[in-house]
Amino acid sequence: MTTETADGAATARPSVVLGVGGGIAAYKVCDLLRRLTESGHRVRVVPTAAALDFVGASTWAALSGQPVTADPFDDVHEVPHVRIGKAADLVVVAPATANLIAKAAHGLADDLLTNTLLTARCPILFAAAMHTEMWEHPATQANVATLRERGITVLDPAVGRLTGKDTGRGRLPEPAEIFAISQLMLADEAARAAGHKIADLTGRHVLVSAGGTREHLDPVRYLGNSSSGKQGYALARIAAARGAKVTLVAANSELPDPAGVHVVPVTSTRDLFDEITARAVDADAVVMAAAPADFRPADVAEHKIKKTADGSVPAVNLVQNPDILATISHDRARKDQVIVGFAAETGDAEHSVIDLARAKLERKGCDLLVVNDVSGGKVFGSDMNEAVILDRDGGALPVPSGSKDALAGVIWNLVDARWQ
Ligand SMILES: Cc1cc2nc3c(=O)[nH]c(=O)nc-3n(C[C@H](O)[C@H](O)[C@H](O)COP(=O)(O)O)c2cc1C
Repeated sequence: MTTETADGAATARPSVVLGVGGGIAAYKVCDLLRRLTESGHRVRVVPTAAALDFVGASTWAALSGQPVTADPFDDVHEVPHVRIGKAADLVVVAPATANLIAKAAHGLADDLLTNTLLTARCPILFAAAMHTEMWEHPATQANVATLRERGITVLDPAVGRLTGKDTGRGRLPEPAEIFAISQLMLADEAARAAGHKIADLTGRHVLVSAGGTREHLDPVRYLGNSSSGKQGYALARIAAARGAKVTLVAANSELPDPAGVHVVPVTSTRDLFDEITARAVDADAVVMAAAPADFRPADVAEHKIKKTADGSVPAVNLVQNPDILATISHDRARKDQVIVGFAAETGDAEHSVIDLARAKLERKGCDLLVVNDVSGGKVFGSDMNEAVILDRDGGALPVPSGSKDALAGVIWNLVDARWQ
């Protein structure tokens, strides 16, 4: 991306404006700033006056290497209230306070940040953080809806411990999460500028599963698998960032809730089956990235199974679990629903990974099957993924090794193409 910067120089580094609002989470934004500068972005921090009460201008200036002011009347000869916004490739506002959201929704321009928001023509990302009552207030909700209608991405606050002793929705989404979404928005913008179509998922409801199920033998032991949930979480995060309403049914994942995603925790394959089949009715797309167990113990011991003195071991009888992907594909809740499965294959002596995956797609009846070659422990737990995406019409799209977010982006583009 070659752009003119606020000081008039041409640069190939993406130019990001980091607007900081007056919330307690302002200190966490130092971590976000670090991530942005260390990955090569040129960052101009524009705090509000209230933000400077929480973290001083010296911290922002030292970390960004750029001047910092909240006042449009500083350095007036450079016309900063217009130049900073016009030169930006992306504006990120974090924490986005109730006050800033209201001012942006109504077009107020009484400080440098709100002026910048009106002059920017690039994508804008708001990461909201405030007390639950402020977030849930109809005024805030109406202002958020206005911003979203204008194409601004607003990340809902995350759930967790708030400023005081209370807990609820209101926390700033994790800096790593905001960073990942900002990278996606910059990549999408670059792809758009190059003439590629990017899926816009606004108005869609998508259902995603993630993680690995556990089938208990007794209260403390279970049969499980090594799925980390990272690919499903990436799918949920990217869909939410593109405007979809997202429900993520997560099996035993330790990952933080993605911003703006409704997370439903489950343990076993039967729990996953119940949640997915009940929720698929409302979904425009279902992406089954979870790794459900094919079998479960026929009986679950009420108490921990003890060792015996004679050294004998208990026999474990297994029964088959319901096939979630086949069930939702064959009993489609809606005709235009797109269903995506995942296949982790290793191939065998007679069949290649793709042969086995093509047969699986036919058997399951889904629209797209994302095929991972997992021989040698590849993919599980990694931040990278490489896949071939098969479609029911015979197509096969190889996706080279890249981030799980990038693969998620390709999957949503293909889902969107099937809706058209
Ligand atoms: C300790 C403290 C923490 C605050 N945290 C938040 C917050 O997380 N979110 C929010 O919307 N307002 C918060 N406020 C209120 C804002 O600082 C206040 O509304 C201010 O006018 C926001 O200004 P700004 O939007 O220009 O930054 C907090 C205030 C105090 C004193």
